[in-house]
Amino acid sequence: MGKERTFIDLFCGAGGLSYGFEMVGLKPVFAIDNWQDALDTYNYNNPNGATLCTDLSNIDINKIDKDFNIKSVDIIIGGPPCQGFSLAGKRIIDDVRNKLYKSFVSFVDYYSPKVFVMENVPNILSIGEGLVRKSIVADFTALGYSVQYKVLTASDYGVPQNRRRAFFVGVKDGAFSFPEPSVKDKVTVSQAINDLPENSIDDGSPYTCREKSNYQRWARSDSARIFNHETTNHNEKTQRIISLVPDGGNYKDLPVELQDTRKVHIAWTRLSSNKPSITIDTGHRHHFHYRYNRIPTVRECARIQSFPDNYIFLKSRTSQYKQVGNAVPPLMAAAIAEEVKNVFQ
Ligand SMILES: C[S@@+](CC[C@H](N)C(=O)[O-])C[C@H]1O[C@@H](n2cnc3c(N)ncnc32)[C@H](O)[C@@H]1O
Repeated sequence: MGKERTFIDLFCGAGGLSYGFEMVGLKPVFAIDNWQDALDTYNYNNPNGATLCTDLSNIDINKIDKDFNIKSVDIIIGGPPCQGFSLAGKRIIDDVRNKLYKSFVSFVDYYSPKVFVMENVPNILSIGEGLVRKSIVADFTALGYSVQYKVLTASDYGVPQNRRRAFFVGVKDGAFSFPEPSVKDKVTVSQAINDLPENSIDDGSPYTCREKSNYQRWARSDSARIFNHETTNHNEKTQRIISLVPDGGNYKDLPVELQDTRKVHIAWTRLSSNKPSITIDTGHRHHFHYRYNRIPTVRECARIQSFPDNYIFLKSRTSQYKQVGNAVPPLMAAAIAEEVKNVFQ
């Protein structure tokens, strides 16, 4: 057996990215976020490895090294939120808004891992006519990394969702290739969730029917019970309006007088049962179940994000929706992690 490879996850959230890396046998040793709710979920599901709740825009890595005795690590992963890199001419200004990205760079500089994986929104590659992308590549190239970037679509890797994410991968003295799509037939929303009941069930209740797809068999494989399946009781008007929208439809399917009852372009969208889902949100209540007159439960969202059923979300329901919606789908992360492992061979 090869040496166990370790990783640090920065901005780890509830742990979607980490979990994908763990799925292929990589070992989390340390994770940081400044949101305790997400860290509670992270710790519950990834009990091996330390975590720290702190602001990454203002961090002393020497202290982390000392306090947590983290002397070296093979891989650094993470997704610094990019609220906006501020640009001045042909460079990114050093201001508070890109401090979070800079902290990722500082960790890579300090630990000099063999590989880093930094994920972000797809348009990070194009903003400022590519200035941000070029600047990111330049920062890591200056640290001795050979850097590649690509936008991947989650449904190409068995995730029942067309979420797209940009990944920058840097390698020191080695070769990395992005994973090829691994599925021919994309997993659909109904294959992902049609075994979950219409109504709420108490945490820890047994499944109410047998699995109906290979995806469900996979999701249930380490779980005998359902968690996080509490439904939302919408008011009568909301239920009536959404009942008029067909599977896969949206506000355009409503009578004209109801079409602008919500002022967002994704309003009154029902997921399509026979396709991968559109990108699920963090609980804005605009995406409804393809059949039931309610938004998906946290568990249904977790299935759509490719979290297995034994991955349990803690804290309030609002917080759980945000934790799930923020995550990198574990199966997408696992596809990248598999290629990261090859770098060490
Ligand atoms: C997109 S989410 C990460 C999702 C995570 N990679 C996953 O796959 O589950 C971004 C995370 O950055 C965290 N964050 C935002 N600002 C931060 C800061 N200043 N210091 C530390 N963490 C921060 C948020 O709390 C959030 O959990």
